Amino acid sequence: MIIAANLKTNFTRAKTTEYIEEIEKFIKQNSISQEILIFPTSSSLNLHNGEAIIGVQNAYATINGAFTGEIGQEQLEEFEIKTILIGHSERRHVLGETQDELIKKFNFYKELKYKIVYCIGEPLEIREAGHAKMMQYISAQYDGIDTNYENLIIAYEPVWAIGTGLTPTLEDIIVIHKELKKKSHAPLLYGGSVKVTNANDVLALDGVDGVLVGSAALNADNFCTMIEFAQNIEIN
Ligand code: 13P
Repeated sequence: MIIAANLKTNFTRAKTTEYIEEIEKFIKQNSISQEILIFPTSSSLNLHNGEAIIGVQNAYATINGAFTGEIGQEQLEEFEIKTILIGHSERRHVLGETQDELIKKFNFYKELKYKIVYCIGEPLEIREAGHAKMMQYISAQYDGIDTNYENLIIAYEPVWAIGTGLTPTLEDIIVIHKELKKKSHAPLLYGGSVKVTNANDVLALDGVDGVLVGSAALNADNFCTMIEFAQNIEIN
């Protein structure tokens, strides 16, 4: 299974290093065989030698150049980063990234063989418009995306569930993941208010290949507990 921590705009460089060390220690001590991804803030990236994979939350579709405020592949290469999150709801809805921009980014980093965690998910008003409308909205987020890309991971994160403490029912997650699995055979993660209290149930569902965790992952012990849940589900 894939257990991913999106640290968003949290932690300093020093705190991130400490956090990653804690996770690494847990992975080694418990012989964890799950795929662990950690996405720190860009300014906290560093060279990393360990079991967890460190990825970047965002980067521009460029090697380098005149793109004030952005980072490109050259800056990622310095830290041997080969994993990127694309299409996160905060990038789509807070930073205003369009599907066209995401496609450009996707193709650029695909060409460089990056592992891409591509996020999709609907806002509340779309969910409330009914199942068909919701699936139509989510389908449009697959437009222009190579769903057969070998290094692709998809994360379904309903926008209204992110950082709110609300989640779809387990039954809803099963139904949506089943439909999304028809669009791509890539591993499919669930994200949106995953906590220690619900992670085990979510991870055990059919069609859920892992979780992408935000706020609850900021506590290293909690994140390790979720890793342990995944490990136990996988080996039993
Ligand atoms: P929360 O776990 O804080 O809801 O965030 C989810 C998320 O956005 C992960 O990318």
